[in-house]
Amino acid sequence: MKCCVVTLGCQMNQSDSERIRSVIEGMGFEMVDTEEEASLIGVVACSVRQKAIDKVYSKIRKWNQWKNEKPLVTFVSGCILPADEEKFLKQFDLVFRMNELPDLPDMLHQCGVASEFSAKHPFNDLHREDERTDFWQIDPTYSSDFDAFVPIQNGCDKFCSYCAVPYTRGREVSRASEDILAEVRRLVERGVKAITLLGQNVNSYGLDKKGQEISFAQLLRKVGELGQASGKEFWVYFTSPHPRDMTRDVIEAIADYDCLAKQIHLPLQSGDEKLLRRMNRNHSIEDYLKIVDDIRELLPTATLFTDIIVGFSGETDEQFENSAKVMERVGYNMAYVAKYSPRVGARSARWEDDISPQLKSERLARLSEILKRTSKAHNDAMVGKTYRVLIERVDPRMASALSGRTEGKLPVRVVDAPAELVGTFQEVEITSASELSLTGRLA
Ligand code: 5AD
Ligand code: SF4
Repeated sequence: MKCCVVTLGCQMNQSDSERIRSVIEGMGFEMVDTEEEASLIGVVACSVRQKAIDKVYSKIRKWNQWKNEKPLVTFVSGCILPADEEKFLKQFDLVFRMNELPDLPDMLHQCGVASEFSAKHPFNDLHREDERTDFWQIDPTYSSDFDAFVPIQNGCDKFCSYCAVPYTRGREVSRASEDILAEVRRLVERGVKAITLLGQNVNSYGLDKKGQEISFAQLLRKVGELGQASGKEFWVYFTSPHPRDMTRDVIEAIADYDCLAKQIHLPLQSGDEKLLRRMNRNHSIEDYLKIVDDIRELLPTATLFTDIIVGFSGETDEQFENSAKVMERVGYNMAYVAKYSPRVGARSARWEDDISPQLKSERLARLSEILKRTSKAHNDAMVGKTYRVLIERVDPRMASALSGRTEGKLPVRVVDAPAELVGTFQEVEITSASELSLTGRLA
């Protein structure tokens, strides 16, 4: 029996998908990449962009047509808005939330999926303590040998007015720190080179269990200690933090340990005070810039990434210019700029989406220009120097080259290098720089 899982959206979904795959494999299924081959097909949905939501609808329409020709069972999980969930319940055989994952074999059984699972049910010995979090005890089928995601938290309590996540993933729940550290330890022993701690709001870690759980900064320190004790080389990232909880002790922790990578993704969303308030971000521009200054002071080599939304409901020219100003002032290495689009369920969906698509595109292009300029300036300064690079793959456009990333997550093309180096750290001398990437050779 074959199963195909289609994953849309962010790294959290990719990580969830690794655990879903592991459960289905435990039932005796073979995982395949093509939907056509499978008799069980699922999608891990994303609700951040309308395009992703539309994709789920187009997939299920197609799969339901296939049911006229062959037996097929379909499921959907991931980030689902309540309004879509109602529709999905009619179209998919099964809709489940990640916290129900340990029951997936039983649920599929009820949908008529025969499997060998009852004999070797992977969860018979699962220690069921808290039904909201015990899915994290499932060992994932990691999709890479050297680069792994470790979820530390699920859901979000921040309710930014444009965002659907609090409605699709529910309230913030932190995973037990012993479990996180045990997973990190296993990965390090296995020789993994990059680990990304995942959550919608990683630095709110532990706040839902105040007094019972450690803080995010303490968690980072424990990971740092573990790294030092292991004697191995690896880089630990986290995404995404919220500026509101980005305290100085988090930055200090990163400064104190080699394995905590000097790269920070700090979402800005808007550079305008009033818009930030309307977005319900609960911090000022001054707060944000103070964090940037702390990062520059304590982590002088760190790269800075961000997320920005243009064309939010009511965004005036002047408010947009304020985003451009902050971008100039910070000088990001990378920025993911999104055009605002209303999400059903989120508070701002009730406000007028009054910025024309054309103006949104113009604003996006302006910010992309600024990004290219700041990122090129950072990249130019790296030419002639040597950096440690984690080689990730053979360059898809040039067979004799490899592509990898620096500790700061800057993409580097390494020319004339053999494929055996994939998954290893290499010293690379940077020979040239472009706006969003670097080229180098093995040093
Ligand atoms: N419209 C545009 N961009 C959005 N994001 C989240 N919700 C929306 C929306 N309604 C962006 C934010 C967030 C990133 C993951 O997606 O910038 O940080
Ligand atoms: Fe969405 Fe804001 Fe929560 Fe991030 S912090 S997931 S943008 S509500």
